[in-house]
Amino acid sequence: MSTLVAAAAGAALLVASPASGAASTLAAAAQQSGRYFGTAVAANKLGDSTYVGILNREFDMVTAENEMKMDATEPNQGQFSYGNADRIVNQARNQGKRVRGHALAWHSQQPGWMQNMSGTALRNAMLNHVTQVATYYRGKIYAWDVVNEAYADGSSGGRRDSNLQRTGNDWIEAAFRAARAADPNAKLCYNDYNTDNWSHAKTQGVYRMVQDFKSRGVPIDCVGFQAHFNSGNPVPSNYHTTLQNFANLGVDVQITELDIEGSGSTQAQQYQGVVQACLAVTRCTGITVWGIRDTDSWRASGTPLLFDGSGNKKAAYNSVLSVLNNASTTVPTTTDTTGPTTTTTSNPGNGGCTATYSEGQKWSDRFNGQVTVSGTNNWIVTVTVSSPQRIIATWNTSATWETANVMTARPNGNGNTFGFTIQHGGNWSWPSISCRVG
Ligand code: G3I
Repeated sequence: MSTLVAAAAGAALLVASPASGAASTLAAAAQQSGRYFGTAVAANKLGDSTYVGILNREFDMVTAENEMKMDATEPNQGQFSYGNADRIVNQARNQGKRVRGHALAWHSQQPGWMQNMSGTALRNAMLNHVTQVATYYRGKIYAWDVVNEAYADGSSGGRRDSNLQRTGNDWIEAAFRAARAADPNAKLCYNDYNTDNWSHAKTQGVYRMVQDFKSRGVPIDCVGFQAHFNSGNPVPSNYHTTLQNFANLGVDVQITELDIEGSGSTQAQQYQGVVQACLAVTRCTGITVWGIRDTDSWRASGTPLLFDGSGNKKAAYNSVLSVLNNASTTVPTTTDTTGPTTTTTSNPGNGGCTATYSEGQKWSDRFNGQVTVSGTNNWIVTVTVSSPQRIIATWNTSATWETANVMTARPNGNGNTFGFTIQHGGNWSWPSISCRVG
């Protein structure tokens, strides 16, 4: 068996892919500047091979379109139901994608039992829901939409009337505190629509809330801008100003449900404008579109997405990809990105098996890596991580574990490149890789 080489940062080794350049998928293009590109996913479409093919190829962040909402996850009070949400979360994580949670508390899509509640009973039921769901998914969610759509449309700039609002104005901060206690590592977002135009009263109302939360230490990390646009609600020319002003409050901003009705070059230009606005803001950490193909959209007749009903890339897709490939600002990362990006181990004495390890995406708590094997299609690769690291997801391989730290990977019919996610626990060293012919 060969030995490898998991070299420390600084060794001069092969470089498999450039740090920037023309990537060919939305996720890869976004990753060049440290951002993600996501989509909403519906559990009942996970059997559609065209849909899943595009999902797996193009996106690195997933939001459950309906399956994590209150009515789906707590259909009866105190009885939680995660089947469809889990299908989405597991599919995403098995593919090395991250998950945005949507949504813990919302005036809409409440289960029937909650719609009829009020006062302290409702407040407690809401907080219990937040706690239970965020606890169940602890460690699996990049960011939660803790509270969704709590501000009123129109000129008031105030809260929307709802049963939750009537439990007291502090219901939002109470939900955020409960979410933080349940999952301390998830980013906690406030998410809303019609908050894109800086001069709108609703935008200003949400801004004042976030400013207030930051000044009082209420745990909020991010603001989600849904970004559902059409001719009646076009992309505002001051979008960049809006995103930047929120970011200046000390929160990340994310475009969370992007869709733009229209077609052709007009639609493509509008998409381009939204993506450019995000890329111009250092703390705009990613973009999610609200569905994959036009026919998957909640407003399908407006053809608002990046793929047509047959799964073909639209002009809007090409414009988004092109803009992502030209990002000028990079999301700051606390991780070391200065080292080499690949290392190779060979075993010429055993049929010429060669395995090349490449770095993938890095996050605060974990990183991706991938291994490409050459010289044989019948390989056995051993991946050894060092404590306290754990491999928490794999893709394109059939994996077994010799110990908690040693994984044996074999082909699973998906070619000779496989990947994995390592939860690093503060240890950023690369895994040791060895390859042999099976
Ligand atoms: O699955 C049932 C089906 O069995 C039933 O026959 C049918 C008849 O009503 O309903 C189907 O469920 C629908 C579900 O979408 C799945 O298609 C619900 O009625 C319908 O209300 C639900 O609409 C969702 C909507 O939120 C309301 O929750 C949309 O899919 C979803 O795209 C939309 O997403 C929202 C975000 O959560 C928040 N921001 C706005 C965004 C767009 O409205």
